[in-house]
Amino acid sequence: MTQDEMKKAAAIKALDFVEADSIVGVGTGSTVNHFIDALATIKNTIKGAVSSSEASTQRMREYGIDVFDLNSVDDLSVYVDGADEINEHMHMIKGGGAALTREKIVAAVAKTFVCICDESKQVGVLGDFPLPVEVIPMARSYVARELVKLGGDPVYRQGVVTDNGNVILDVHNMSIVDPKGLEQSINAIVGVVTNGLFAHRAADILVLGTSEGAKVVKY
Ligand code: A5P
Repeated sequence: MTQDEMKKAAAIKALDFVEADSIVGVGTGSTVNHFIDALATIKNTIKGAVSSSEASTQRMREYGIDVFDLNSVDDLSVYVDGADEINEHMHMIKGGGAALTREKIVAAVAKTFVCICDESKQVGVLGDFPLPVEVIPMARSYVARELVKLGGDPVYRQGVVTDNGNVILDVHNMSIVDPKGLEQSINAIVGVVTNGLFAHRAADILVLGTSEGAKVVKY
């Protein structure tokens, strides 16, 4: 199986967690694109979706899936999203697609976070993948200096503006042994909107695409 086939297998398996007549939280990225394609096949059995990015919203609307504003939704049973890295505690690095802030908001509302990814995303220690940090544009240099103090090597993601009008710093060379602590420390820097560590709100269920097909992992 190719990496993309593994992503697709995980995405299709995640339909098992979608409840009939519910509004589904939908993430962003290439794995989620497969999930949206799969969701379209059962669109008549759900009320619709809440989206974590303009890109996912557009893809769902093209399929005729209703996309609701999160503010009009009280209850979200499931949020399905990919990850750039995930460890055995279900802590993740996310934000490779720059949608981390909206992803974190929708994930916070959902009762269950179902992470879908291929097996290459499973790691022992988070941090090989540069950690994305969304920053208010005028705070970019200040936040970069503070991230250096935390031991990282921030790189400005040139040419990228988030759906919220902000910029992204990708922090390289961090071996993240305390994901919850680092998530909190980075959030405390003035000018930071969100960082891509999902440790306080980790995944509840991992659907992993492997060469033998999709496997459901729960710790
Ligand atoms: C988007 O901002 C990210 O958090 C994605 O969920 C993550 O980058 C995984 O993307 P792929 O599914 O494309 O690997």
